[in-house]
Amino acid sequence: MIQVFSNSLGKDELAALAPVFESKWIGLGKASKLFEEELGKKLGSKRVLLTDSCTSALFLAVRILGIGPGDEVIIPSVNFIGTANAVISSGAKPVFVDVDTRYFNILPEEIERARTKKTKAVLLLHYGGHPCDMEKIYTAAKGLYIIEDNANSPFSKYKEKSCGTLGNVGCFSFDAMKILCTGNGGALCLGSDELYDKAVGLRYFGLKKKKQSGIDSFKENQKRWWEIELDSASGRFVTCDIISAIGRIQLKKVDEFIKRRKEIWNIYQKELNGLPWLITPPEPLANTESSYYFYWLKVPGGKRDAFARYLVENGVYCTFRYFPLHLIRYYGSKETLKNSELINEEAIDIPLHQNLTGRDVEIIISAVKKFI
Ligand SMILES: Cc1ncc(COP(=O)(O)O)c(C=O)c1O
Repeated sequence: MIQVFSNSLGKDELAALAPVFESKWIGLGKASKLFEEELGKKLGSKRVLLTDSCTSALFLAVRILGIGPGDEVIIPSVNFIGTANAVISSGAKPVFVDVDTRYFNILPEEIERARTKKTKAVLLLHYGGHPCDMEKIYTAAKGLYIIEDNANSPFSKYKEKSCGTLGNVGCFSFDAMKILCTGNGGALCLGSDELYDKAVGLRYFGLKKKKQSGIDSFKENQKRWWEIELDSASGRFVTCDIISAIGRIQLKKVDEFIKRRKEIWNIYQKELNGLPWLITPPEPLANTESSYYFYWLKVPGGKRDAFARYLVENGVYCTFRYFPLHLIRYYGSKETLKNSELINEEAIDIPLHQNLTGRDVEIIISAVKKFI
């Protein structure tokens, strides 16, 4: 079976673990500090904080921004469950809105339609790595916080600025299915020093910034360095040096991964464009760069499910990201969001990753073409 997702972990990553093991400190330490700095440099931000996952980053994002009971957060419906769960866990209400039928990104006019006096933020996704039309979003979301779920678009760019740095808080994922992969892991990118300071505390129990370990307190000349003070009651969302050592190696290779993904994207576009029963995805907007995380097809006319089953039966795994959140009963949404519902009937994501060989790509294209 050719998989939809893959990762490229090997000897280099294994070798990077040895010094961490030998140091006898595998927690949040030197490797994590360096990974944070190197990631920040690549993103053009001095305010990057590693977390144990993107889901944690999303849960932290709403808390850092002070979102809570009585507040509303606008979320595009074609999105990951962790976004809505983060909002609900804060006591606020997620308000699901529609996306456009080509990019599957939030429609700026939907922000205007859905915003009320209670709206505090828009939590957006750059679907499949293609950046949203941010100018229109900035206008529609004026006065609101912007949280970017950047799990699909870790190194995408909008007008030369990195996605994840375009709003107030950006949330990154390095989980087993992501482009830069460390098994588990994530990051926050903060839009101001104030938010950064809050994030440092909330990421680690709510402990005060410069007093998060006995060594910190000792260095600050605290007489009894084991005594602690809290700013808030939070959980533990830090990463560790094992993960960070892997991340530092992956970071050096990630441009090559994205280059290969783009090559495959271009082959798909060339080979699959023009089939009368199939709709191929659009190219990234002008002035943007994509991370090419998903390659999505649309099969209208009620044939998508048969197409998906046929592909899997012929050795090409495929899936649909993301089942619209407003259709998940638990969230209790009463919205009808036509585009999201249409996408949910027509779209499918086929394999796109750096480990696909030329032969794999041929097999996938040939399987797709033979469906009808
Ligand atoms: C869009 C999106 N956001 C967030 C996440 C959560 O990432 P993590 O697994 O690092 O918690 C995922 C995971 O699949 C995702 O697809």
